[in-house]
This record gives sequence, C-alpha cells and structure tokens, in this order.
Amino acid sequence: MIEIRGARPEDDAALVAIDDLTWTSETSPGLPPEPPREFFAPERQPVEDVLVAELDGVVAGYAIVRNTIALPSHAHVLELGGLAVHPDAAGHGVGTALVETAVAEAVRRGARKMSLRVLGGNAVARRLYARCGFDVEGVLKEEFLLDGRYVDDVLMARQLAAAAERD
Ligand SMILES: CC(C)(COP(=O)(O)OP(=O)(O)OC[C@H]1O[C@@H](n2cnc3c(N)ncnc32)[C@H](O)[C@@H]1OP(=O)(O)O)[C@@H](O)C(=O)NCCC(=O)NCCS
Repeated sequence: MIEIRGARPEDDAALVAIDDLTWTSETSPGLPPEPPREFFAPERQPVEDVLVAELDGVVAGYAIVRNTIALPSHAHVLELGGLAVHPDAAGHGVGTALVETAVAEAVRRGARKMSLRVLGGNAVARRLYARCGFDVEGVLKEEFLLDGRYVDDVLMARQLAAAAERD
C-alpha cells in the first residue's frame, strides 16, 4: 500500500540513501552526491517542502514542492523541485502518487500553476509527468554538458486553476 505524508526530520537518512541510489547524469544535472551529508537543511531544503512516500510502511520516495522565486508576483507558481523513488519500489505507482499528491499540495497552498524541469533524456520521468497532466512549455536546448554530451532541459507545467477562472 502506498501512503504519502509530510516529511519528518527522522526521514533524513532514508532520503539521502534514495538520492544516492537514484542519482545519474541522465536524471540530474547536479554533481554526484558526496557523503557525509544531510537531506534537510533549513535554508537549502526545509522539511516542510518535502513529501515522503511509504510503500508497505517503508520509506520509498520523496517529492519537493517549493517556491523558487520569492516575489509576490510569482506567488501563484510552485515548483515540483525534486522527485525520486527507491529502485526497489520502482514501477509500483509510487512516483505517480507522489506527483499527484504534490499537485494537491500546490492547490492546497493556493497555487494556480505547478512547474518543473526535466532532462530531455529522462523518458520515464517525462512520461510520468505527461500522464499527470503536465505539458511541455519550453525546451532549453543543450542546456547542460553531461558526460561529454549536450542535453536539453525541458520545462513542463500544469495549470491548476479551472480554465474559467484563468480567463
Ligand atoms: C521517475 C521516477 C520517480 C518514477 O518513479 P516510479 O515510482 O517508478 O513511477 P511509477 O511507478 O508511478 O511509474 C513508472 C512506470 O511504472 C508504471 N506503473 C505505475 N503504477 C504501476 C503499478 N501499480 N504496477 C506496475 N507498474 C506501474 C507506470 O505506468 C510507468 O510506466 P512507464 O514508465 O512505462 O510509463 C523514478 O524512476 C526515479 O526515481 N528516477 C530517478 C530520479 C528522477 O529521474 N527523478 C525525476 C527528475 S525530473
């Protein structure tokens, strides 16, 4: 059974382990994670922005819902700023449940739009986001140089307000 809940400080080690197991240059433009480290840090990664998935009672993944531009004019947009599922739990719908709950959380926080960035070659994540209602809004061509190859960064978003309300 999949349960999604807010993160707790004691999830730290499990989330670091998931990051270590899922990081590849095909899914992240960042540097490889280097131990020792902590998942939560008040300014970099507040615990309140993280949703945790449990599969049959075991921490299996996380999603981050955050505000990336601290301006009143941008307050209606929240970003899905991270998503990862433990390889042992992959293909059971945990990622989909995390994205759907992240969307619900963004709606609860009053957002009209949820945005995200995904590397062009990350086909599994791109299919998942499309299934969850995210559309491609733009492509930053050859935005990252990863393992000697230039890779696109794809901007996706889902409108959360009803069409009538947007007009
Ligand atoms: C992308 C990622 C989060 C997906 O997590 P996941 O839990 O495997 O996702 P889901 O199970 O919801 O969906 C994945 C596949 O399983 C299938 N699936 C969903 N529910 C299922 C179920 N109950 N039983 C079997 N398969 C299922 C989906 O149809 C999907 O298939 P598809 O890829 O052929 O379309 C995971 O692969 C990951 O952590 N990747 C590395 C990090 C990453 O890329 N993050 C995104 C950065 S932008």
